[in-house]
Amino acid sequence: MAPEIVSGTEGYADEAAALFREYEAIRFADVHRLVSHLFPPAPARVLDIGAGTGRDAAAFAALGYRVTAAEPTTALRDGAKKLHRAPQIDWIDDSLPDLATVVQSGDQFELVMMTAVWMHLDAAQRQRAMPVVAGLMAAGGTMVMTQRHGPVPPGRRMFGVAAAETVALAQGEDLVCVLRLEHQPSIRRPGVRWDRLAFTKPSRR
Ligand SMILES: C[S@@+](CC[C@H](N)C(=O)[O-])C[C@H]1O[C@@H](n2cnc3c(N)ncnc32)[C@H](O)[C@@H]1O
Repeated sequence: MAPEIVSGTEGYADEAAALFREYEAIRFADVHRLVSHLFPPAPARVLDIGAGTGRDAAAFAALGYRVTAAEPTTALRDGAKKLHRAPQIDWIDDSLPDLATVVQSGDQFELVMMTAVWMHLDAAQRQRAMPVVAGLMAAGGTMVMTQRHGPVPPGRRMFGVAAAETVALAQGEDLVCVLRLEHQPSIRRPGVRWDRLAFTKPSRR
């Protein structure tokens, strides 16, 4: 029997070789230019959810962060491990909405990254995932995310998600929205737009 595909990852394994070329050609500094001022200083703990080819995980590791990279697509995770052989990166086969293995570890993170992942979840999964992600943030920690709008690539599972919905879900978990940039045009793909959102978890008094 073929292994069950984690929902949201449809299409990624088949295109893994092309995605390594595509994602690794983009510079970390360019992707995160508008949000990097929100990153805590190294050696903070970073959780990169849907880490893909490991471009960002490797960049954070090179900057001295301790990185947990959660990626459910085996072809991407295995290739990323080979490409970026950094001992500071802990690669985990785990997925939203539950991130069961990361939760089980009991770890918390000063920075949670969800770059181009959230729109792969349907409405019920997004509702389930937000408390999980909020629970993985350390007090005073930050979550930075992007969500895509526009044509869905063939074979992928993707939903149009309003920034207002994501902000409301995060606020429901007592997160504070510190950055909200909506519908910014993609530099690389005509017709595609991105929301960039960031949230902080208040420090305990
Ligand atoms: C557009 S790629 C982005 C990869 C990487 N974050 C980047 O910026 O290059 C989306 C990634 O999310 C992963 N993904 C899809 N569904 C997921 C889920 N339910 N939980 C976690 N990751 C998922 C895919 O396997 C893929 O690696």
